[in-house]
Amino acid sequence: MTQLDSLRIKSLESYHREYDLSVQDPKKFWADKAKSLEWFTPFQEVLNWNFQEPQVRWFEGGTLNASYNCLDRHLAEHGDEEALVWEPNDPTSPTRHYTYRELHAEVEATAALLKEMGVSKGDRVCLYMGMVPELAIGVLACTRIGAIHSVIFGGFSAQSIADRVNDAQAVAILTCDGAYRGAKSIPLKSVVDQALEQCTSVQRVLVLKHIGGDCPMNTNRDRDWLEKLNALKKEGRAHCPAEPMNSEDPLFILYTSGSTGKPKGVVHSTAGYLLWSQYTFLNVFQYQRPQLHFCTADIGWITGHSYIVYGPLLVGGRTLMFEGIPTWPDAGRFWDIVDKHTVDILYTAPTAIRSLMACGLEPLQSKSLASLKVLGTVGEPINAEAWHWYHEHIGKSELPIVDTWWQTETGGILISNLAGVTEAVPTFATLPLPGIQPVLVDENGQILEAAEARGNLCIRYPWPGMIRSTWGDHERCRQTYFSTYPGLYFTGDGCNRNAQGQYRITGRVDDVLNVSGHRIGTAELENAINQHPNVVESAVVGYPHDIKGQGIYAYIICQSLPVESGTARKAILDTVSHLIGPIAKPDKIQFVSGLPKTRSGKIMRRILRKIAEGEWEQLGDTSTLLDPTVVQDIMQSRL
Ligand code: WTA
Repeated sequence: MTQLDSLRIKSLESYHREYDLSVQDPKKFWADKAKSLEWFTPFQEVLNWNFQEPQVRWFEGGTLNASYNCLDRHLAEHGDEEALVWEPNDPTSPTRHYTYRELHAEVEATAALLKEMGVSKGDRVCLYMGMVPELAIGVLACTRIGAIHSVIFGGFSAQSIADRVNDAQAVAILTCDGAYRGAKSIPLKSVVDQALEQCTSVQRVLVLKHIGGDCPMNTNRDRDWLEKLNALKKEGRAHCPAEPMNSEDPLFILYTSGSTGKPKGVVHSTAGYLLWSQYTFLNVFQYQRPQLHFCTADIGWITGHSYIVYGPLLVGGRTLMFEGIPTWPDAGRFWDIVDKHTVDILYTAPTAIRSLMACGLEPLQSKSLASLKVLGTVGEPINAEAWHWYHEHIGKSELPIVDTWWQTETGGILISNLAGVTEAVPTFATLPLPGIQPVLVDENGQILEAAEARGNLCIRYPWPGMIRSTWGDHERCRQTYFSTYPGLYFTGDGCNRNAQGQYRITGRVDDVLNVSGHRIGTAELENAINQHPNVVESAVVGYPHDIKGQGIYAYIICQSLPVESGTARKAILDTVSHLIGPIAKPDKIQFVSGLPKTRSGKIMRRILRKIAEGEWEQLGDTSTLLDPTVVQDIMQSRL
């Protein structure tokens, strides 16, 4: 593993040295780091780029394979060491352990099965599953044959699946009969069946029988995953070589919400993404084999991609996958898992910390947590109270906490302290990783040069793990990320920088909400609400929420007034669940007779946000409104 060791930043001095090198000569810097991947063919050109189109191409001419880098290359030296630990939803059910050799065998077999089902290089495969090992195996099996995976979070509705499958024109879906979530089980396969009524591209559905019981199968289309896999193994056909892929071949698509329209498919490429997830995992968490890394995210989100599957396996580490939820059977579940498996690194989200904090200290009694060495947080700004609770009660006031800022589009962590190496500052993500050149800009696009500044966060030079395109619509990628401030990648986040050059991300500045760490576009949500036959118009804003970070406040105009609010509210919530999924359900619905609009018809969200936040005195200028009396009405009936 000497190649990996050459990536390590071990001291503050080495961080500064590496950072400076990465800015002075980025091509040389990354050419050097890229040697830590296993290449079938070496690359010829380090980087080709412009942010106008945008075009970003790293390591061209080289070929490699993701599953080979995650698995095969570790077999000789530590094939019999553990790669994946799976903790089931039910704490009394058996845990599963896979060594690298075992995981490799399962991935090979599943890749062979995908091929047999007719999936080829370049095809898109959607995965709609619970947090079972086969999800990670399925993802890696896709990469082995060069198919592009697109994981759809198991909480999304049939309509959301259909939108994603159709956009990607997926040829196959991998799913489970159902998934466990705490005391509940969720029937995933029937949701897929419903979705596929609207999709023509899908030829095959591979179904993992996980919860048992009735699971209707369409004999022309559906196949039993384990049955097929066992047959292949028995026949000795469960082998599949790793397909050499070009550096810039897409590795996966992950759909994410933006401020306009339907979710877009963020496209990541092979070599750059792999290098980025490997490099950031090793350095931010200061990971050392054979530590056990427990990332509590779902593989349906980017955090699960980069820090449950790719990062840990690329470095030959041990990753823990947890099927259940933090509060079942009780609020001590995370801590039980930490003790049971002697977890070294815990990576979770502020919303989880806040909800466990709200359960008091009782669930922590009799838990040791002595194995923990590093704590991490991701997904939204962490408030000081949650940071201190995490530090004091989980970290025993000793462990480093890494506050990692990044996005689906960035592939991996961009701004974070490095555990025990650079300084941790509560509520600050602090310093950029080598290769990341953050800039703050004002509304006019002026770059703020002063050390202390507050503005919109942009990045001014490509890094290997960045977004390459939005699937099927490159122009949308340009528009969304590269047109607001020409020559810069715009993150959509607001940010402060202190005199020490440390960054504090304050939250989205566009019309995207961050609810329990999940991104929800207000436009998408309003479209869903407006589908309800009784809704004329709606406007959705965020407001501070103790547990979720942001709650969803919906102002809705109905056709038939006065509204019988109980039933109308339920009907609207059902519509949202049906069209997007339960995560997007508004916390508060206020029925209104009008919305504050400018004379040109634009909804003044600023005002609605202030009302939702209860900040009456700071409504600001309302004189440009078409009908200022609307505001009085809304304030009077505010929830
Ligand atoms: C927010 C999740 C503050 C931010 C990896 C970003 C954060 C959005 C942090 C991306 C953090 C993520 N501090 N804010 N440490 N991490 N965010 O695409 O607003 O689901 O733009 O990726 O989450 O969310 P996404």
